[in-house]
This record gives sequence, C-alpha cells and structure tokens, in this order.
Amino acid sequence: MERVEKKKFYITTPIYYPSDKLHIGHTYCTVATDAMARYKRLTGCDVMFLTGTDEHGQKIEDKAKEAGVTPQQFVDNIVTGPKGVLDLWKLMNISNDRFIRTTDDYHVSAIQKIFKKMYDNGDIYKGKYVGKYCKPCESFWTDSQLVDGKCPDCGRQVQDAEEEAYFFRLSKYADKVRDLLENTDFLQPRSRVNEMVNNFIKPGLEDLCVSRTSFSWGIPVDFDPGHVVYVWVDALFNYTTALGLYNDKYDDYDHYWPADYHFVGKEIVRFHSIIWPAMLMSVGLPLPHHVFGHGWLLLDGGKMSKSKGNVVDPYVLAEKFGVDALRFFLMRTFPFGSDGNFSNELLINTINVDLANDLGNLVSRTTAMVQKYFGGALPEGCSQWENPEPFDTDLISLASGLRDKYEADMEACAPHKALDEVFKVIQRANKYIDESTPWVLAKDMEANGPRLAHVLYNLLETTRICGVLLTPFIPDSCEKLFDQIGACEDCRTWKAAGIWGSRGETRQVTKGENLFPRIDMDKALEELEELRQAAMAPEKPPIELEPWEDEVDFDTFAKSDFRVVKVKECEAVKKSKKLLRFTLDDGTGTDRQILSGIRMFYEPEDLVGKTLVAIVNLPPRKMMGLESCGMLLSAIHHENGEEKLNLLMLDDSIPAGAKLC
Ligand code: MSP
Repeated sequence: MERVEKKKFYITTPIYYPSDKLHIGHTYCTVATDAMARYKRLTGCDVMFLTGTDEHGQKIEDKAKEAGVTPQQFVDNIVTGPKGVLDLWKLMNISNDRFIRTTDDYHVSAIQKIFKKMYDNGDIYKGKYVGKYCKPCESFWTDSQLVDGKCPDCGRQVQDAEEEAYFFRLSKYADKVRDLLENTDFLQPRSRVNEMVNNFIKPGLEDLCVSRTSFSWGIPVDFDPGHVVYVWVDALFNYTTALGLYNDKYDDYDHYWPADYHFVGKEIVRFHSIIWPAMLMSVGLPLPHHVFGHGWLLLDGGKMSKSKGNVVDPYVLAEKFGVDALRFFLMRTFPFGSDGNFSNELLINTINVDLANDLGNLVSRTTAMVQKYFGGALPEGCSQWENPEPFDTDLISLASGLRDKYEADMEACAPHKALDEVFKVIQRANKYIDESTPWVLAKDMEANGPRLAHVLYNLLETTRICGVLLTPFIPDSCEKLFDQIGACEDCRTWKAAGIWGSRGETRQVTKGENLFPRIDMDKALEELEELRQAAMAPEKPPIELEPWEDEVDFDTFAKSDFRVVKVKECEAVKKSKKLLRFTLDDGTGTDRQILSGIRMFYEPEDLVGKTLVAIVNLPPRKMMGLESCGMLLSAIHHENGEEKLNLLMLDDSIPAGAKLC
C-alpha cells in the first residue's frame, strides 16, 4: 500500500505574560488557535501546536517585588498555580502539543547563543539608548513615535530612559521586510500590511534596543554581565527554541520549522511582522509562512485590562455556561480579523439561538423521532428514495457541499464564516422537519413508514456532517452528539464529512441529555452581575503579624493565671490619651481594677457588661497614679502599617472567675 506522508502544520499562539491572571481576551486567541489546530488534525495533517508563557521583563520583576516573592515564584504561581495559565488551558480543552516557558533552561541557553550569533555577525552592536520607555509594554519609543506624548501601543504614560545598551540593526532589513509585507501573503489580513508599512516602515525603521541594564529579571547577555536580553528577542525566538533550535531538549526543528501560522493579537503584529522576520534573516533562518493579526475583544468599546478593572473571567463563564458553549461563542460571534464587543447578553443569546435552539433542537427532535417511530434504529434501505421532494434534494445537496465551503473558510482563517456555513445547514435541516412533517407521516406507518425512515435518515446524515465540522470548535459536545445519533468512528472523519450516506442505515440512535439547555437570560445576567461585584470588592490588605516570641518551658507558662472577668464599669482615665480604667468582677467577690491602653480602639461605654479575659497574677503596676492589677488579653495585628486590636471577648454565659487552661 502506498504510504501517504502527512502534511506538517505548525501553529502558535503568542506566549502569555504571566503578570496577571488571563482573561477572556487571552482565551479568545488560544481557542482560535486550538480550533485551527484541531481542524488541521481532522484533515489529516501532522500538527504541532505550541503555546507557552513569556516570563521575563521589568513588569514581572516589579510585580514580584510588590508581592514580596522572587520573580520565579511569582511567575510559577501564575503559570502552574491554582487557576493559573495551565489550569485555564486544561479547562478550555486546549490541545497544544507543547508548552514553553521562557524561564526553561534550554530556552535561556539557546537565546544566549542566538544573541551571540547576531552580535558576531555584526547585526547587534553596543550603543546608548536615549528615549522614552513604556514599562507595561516593555517598549522603547522615540519622541516621534509617541501619540500625544503617550505609548502608541497602550496609550499609557512613558518615562525618560537613558542607558548603555545593545542594538539590533533593524534598519538594515527595512527594504527586505517591506518587500515581504507588500509582495507576499506573509501578513494577514491584508489590512494589517498597510498599518505596518504606513505607521512603522515608511517613517523609517530605527535600530532596535535589544538589551537592558536597569533591571535583572531577564536572560543575561553572557558576554557582557549586567545586560539582560530585551524580552521581545527572548520571547519571539520561543517559536524555534521550542522545537529544539540551539538546544537538545527537542529535535523537531527541521521537521516543523518554518511555522505555518503565528496567530497574534493586533497590537503585537509589529513585533511579529517586522522585528521577527528581520531577526530570522539576520540569523539565517527561514521565515514563517504567515502571521495572522486578529482583533481584540472589547468591553464597552475599550480594551480589557486589569488596571481598568474590566476584565472578564473565563473561569466564571466556562463554569456557568460550559466550556464548549464559551469556545463556540468566541469563534462564532467575532469576525476573526476584526475587533468585537463582548457582552454577557451576546454570549447568552448565541448559546440560546445557535446551540440550544438550532443545533440542540435538531439533535433532540431527530433522535426522539427515531426512538419513537422506529424504536431507535431505522430500517435497511432508508438512505434511498426514488422520487425525492425538492426539499430533500435541497437539504442533501447543501449538506453534501458543506465540507468544501467550510474548508475554504478555514483555510482563509475565517472560522466565523465556516461556522456560519454549518449553521445555514443546521437551520435548513430544522426547516426540513417542518416541510417533511414526520408527525403526519407517522400517523399511517404502514403506508408512510419507508418515507418517514428516509426523512429521518436525511436528518441524521445532515447532523452527522455538521457534527464532524463542529468538532474543532466544540469537541466534547460533538462526541456526545455522535453517540446520540449513532455515528461510528469511521463516519466521524474528515473524509466522511464529504461523503453523504457514510452513516450506516440501521445504526442505533440513543436519545441522551440535552446538549445545550436553554439559559434564562435575566436570571443568568443577574447572577453574573453578582459575581462581578464580588470580584470587584477591594482585595483584603495584607496582614502583618507581630513577631513570634521565644519558646518558654511549660511550667513557666502554666504559672500564668488567666481568668474570665466581667466589665462592671469602664471609663477613660483623665489626662491620658490611651488609658481606660476597668472595674471588673473576677469571681472573688472583690472588684479588680485594671488599666489598659486601648482607648483609641474602644468607646468605654461599649465595653460595660462584656465578658473578657485577664491575666490576674501579675504584680500590680501604677499608671497615672492608679493601680492596675493584671492585664486584659487582646489580639493584635497590623494592616497597611496600622495597628488593629481586638479585646478577647467570650460568651456571656461563662461565669466570672472561670480559669482558662
Ligand atoms: N508576551 C507577549 C507575546 C509574545 S509572543 C512572542 C504578549 N503577551 S500578552 O499576554 O500580553 O498577550 C497575549 C495575547 O493575548 C496577544 O496576542 C494579545 O493580543 C491577546 N489579547 C490580550 N487581550 C486581548 C483582548 N482583549 N482581545 C483579544 N486578544 C487579546 O503580548
């Protein structure tokens, strides 16, 4: 038998900054890449899908300092900790073949070799940087590049920067990069080419500052201590080091490189379509085939960001509506190359209309009818009908031609259009039920049984083909769908999606759970709003505890006599800002007086009648001319540097004088 070589397909997402938890915008890009990778696997390609985390840079160093941990601990927590990056991709059913962390040793040493190579070939040289720096974007800018004096990428304030640094001769590659952008289909969609050429290349490409000395959380330039490699140089080469370039960890660089697609958000197209090809040219490596710059998910017309407090948490949505529903919504609703406005209403509406109503109903109505009228299995011969109605022919030809249309859209990186084609067929199938009126046919099974079986076979076949093509988007739900409609492994394949009649006529149908239950919009919106408010509640300030005391032996401790006392009177001590004078019932029948420096924490009248704890065998002390016989116990800690004190209060039912032990 002839052995057919599988076509390789290498696709990547940007590697994420683990400076904060990921939000729905990050999820969008990864789900899109996952759908594309799954689609390519379905068509028979040998797919490599890479994602990962980009863990160096000043922002991470600063955040770690703020959190009082090392940068490595900080990123470890966000990448591998609970509800971190890895957890999120697992939850979202992301099928990446590899995950790179730029702090991985193999990557670090490979970057040092690459940097040295560019230095040795004269493309990296030492100079002095004078300009502006945007810390959140880790980007240097010249005055002319700023927009209204602010960072052109994120619109935030920039700061003056001056430091000795290494530069990459980006200017040297300007013509070649321009040619690549203008005369090939390297950068997609085409509109991004104009943005890059007009905004960055035409004004003149300046050499790029590629090392830093003002912080240390980066890959050291091994031939010049004190310098760390600019985070974007470190990050971009991940696409090659993760395959084994300049390291022994992996060895499939020759097989998979060059990448077929880098999927990236629009704000980082500049790095991927100008800086990245220029550096690859410098090192003498082949260029990726395509970079696709997708749009942003916006909230109320603006970009989501933690600092604006308007991030949407994918965990909340996935837990509430299901992973597949969320994946589907992201891919169905927003044209991949454009920005789109996220809203909970839109999400719920898409689930209700497309998944519950159109797809869910088609599956449940069809399987219910096969069950009801034929006990779950159609008779032999049901796939054929001699005199088809026009609506039979229409449905069959639409479903038979679906795979080709879908393929064209997926190949053009237009998953939203591919889904649109699938849903046109699903809608057509629901209309077919109304046209073919199975419930009328069922009234006379003897006369109409064969016709009814044919109608239901057509519905099962249409559902199967749509199911195969939906698999890259909603993989788990499609498995359930296949089980319900009785689709064998062989008819779930890409090939079978192009062949009408692949499903065995008599296979058993099993009506199962509703794939996508309808959501009560008002109730769900209300619950989401409650969750949003809870998430927005100010974080509790960090609590600082008093230093721990040295150990004491048990006998010493046991000598301390702690007793329950009841407050009979409490008043502020005249001329003292701190002291309260307590008259206490200690169970002995004689009042005990204790002075306590807690006036700034309590109003004296609020304490009368309270049941407290005192240590009663301390020697009496004089304060402000008054004798204090013991000490009241309280709990002390600090919040935001401020002392907080709480008197130890007990249940009133405990009698005065009871000993604590
Ligand atoms: N670390 C860099 C990428 C280096 S690749 C060599 C980075 N990381 S990021 O975490 O800030 O962003 C990762 C991706 O998420 C980017 O493609 C970015 O466009 C995307 N998104 C972040 N917010 C987004 C939306 N609101 N909407 C859509 N995508 C967005 O950039």
